[in-house]
This record gives sequence, structure tokens and C-alpha cells, in this order.
Amino acid sequence: MSIYDLLKKDHKEVSKLLDEVAATGDDAGKTRAKKFAQIKEKLTAHSDAEDEVFYSVLVEHDETRDIVLEGREEHALIVEFLEELSQMPPGSEDWTAKFKVFKENVEHHVEEEEGEMFKNARKVLSDAEAKDIGEQFREQKQSLLA
Ligand SMILES: [Fe+2]
Ligand SMILES: [Fe+2]
Repeated sequence: MSIYDLLKKDHKEVSKLLDEVAATGDDAGKTRAKKFAQIKEKLTAHSDAEDEVFYSVLVEHDETRDIVLEGREEHALIVEFLEELSQMPPGSEDWTAKFKVFKENVEHHVEEEEGEMFKNARKVLSDAEAKDIGEQFREQKQSLLA
């Protein structure tokens, strides 16, 4: 599978979990905590592996450098949100508000990756390279989750 298809698959999984949490009320603290832990684990491994095998290649190309630097700033923001949300009781209205902004940030980030970043990445990476990076991504993510 190409790196594009693998990343999209992860994005879809995380997006589904984000929607599930967003559909819960403040009284669903336990469910939220469980699903949020899944989001945190998946998203952290995804972003780290993505940066290590995909961004690190794209940052060397003029066509993709700026969008990758932007993506790295967004990753840093997402990590901050994950940390902050982990420290707060998930049944509170503050958690609900922060989660909503976090979700919007993730969705915006995914849109940019699947849009401009992938479009320009396809110009600088051959199909064979995209497949090879996909394999590296799979291995990297597995070792991060182990
Ligand atoms: Fe991603
Ligand atoms: Fe990302």
C-alpha cells in the first residue's frame, strides 16, 4: 500500500473516534476517557511515524517544504492538546470545549495533508518511493505501538 493510502486509512479511523466522542454528553466521562485514550495512542504513533518516514523526505524538496513545516507546527499543537485533555476530567464542560477545538485542529490538519501535501508529494515521489515509504511507515508505527 502507498504511504497515501496508509495515512488516509489512519485518518479515517481517528476521525471516526473523534466523531464518537463528540456525540457523547458531559455525563459520559467513562466512555470518553476510554475512547480518548485510543485517540491519543493512535494519533501519537501516527504523527511520529508520519514525521519520521514521510515528512523527513518531503522537507528536502522545495515543492513540499513549506507545507511540511506547517504540518510540524500542527503536530506540536496536537500533542499539546492531547496532553492538556489528558490532565482534565473528561466529564467537564471545559473538556468538552477543548475537545471540540482539538477535533477542529485535527480535521484541518488532515485536510491539508490529504490535499495540498499529498498533491505536491505525488510530484516529488515516484510510485515506487511512495510504496517504499508506506512500508517504512507501517514498520515504524508498529514499533512505536509495541
Ligand atoms: Fe496524518
Ligand atoms: Fe499529520
